[in-house]
Amino acid sequence: MDVWLFGYGSLIWRPDFDYRERRRARLQGYARRFWQGSHDHRGTPQAPGRVVTLVPAAGADCAGMAYLIERHVADDAFAYLDHREKNGYERHAVWLEFDDGEGAQGLVYMASRDNPAFLGPAPLADMVAQIRSSHGPSGSNADYLLELAAALRALGIDDEHVFELERTLLEGPRRDAGGG
Ligand code: SIN
Repeated sequence: MDVWLFGYGSLIWRPDFDYRERRRARLQGYARRFWQGSHDHRGTPQAPGRVVTLVPAAGADCAGMAYLIERHVADDAFAYLDHREKNGYERHAVWLEFDDGEGAQGLVYMASRDNPAFLGPAPLADMVAQIRSSHGPSGSNADYLLELAAALRALGIDDEHVFELERTLLEGPRRDAGGG
């Protein structure tokens, strides 16, 4: 059977797997949050970066991109994705809603609160400081945030959590108050 996969983070701007079709979609009841530690892409085990996961949130919804993966390439696609998302993410079955009101059963990679790399919330300035200073094999954590924000904007998706982090990152590092 062909499978819909929902992407809400790096899978929006860098899917890197074969798909037949993609459509903007949303997941009800979840919010996108920079609450997952990244040991293998945008940080290291010693100095993890911060990347997005989905957290259950009553009344919220998360917009992203859904990809239709055909049955004959699904094994390859999911072998690649399971490896790419191995630092705490697991596949979950979800109901996706498309912009035209249609819906479909699909899969999403989510990193839950009980995975060892989960970081959870932190003050905005601390999250931005961590994102600004983290680097990993896939590049800088700052680029991950900036690319995600740009991809959401290009899709017409408003996400105040992501855009506030982006704004604060672009404002530059905090300066200590005081004279001199
Ligand atoms: C996703 O994009 O759907 C998962 C999180 C990530 O890889 O950034």
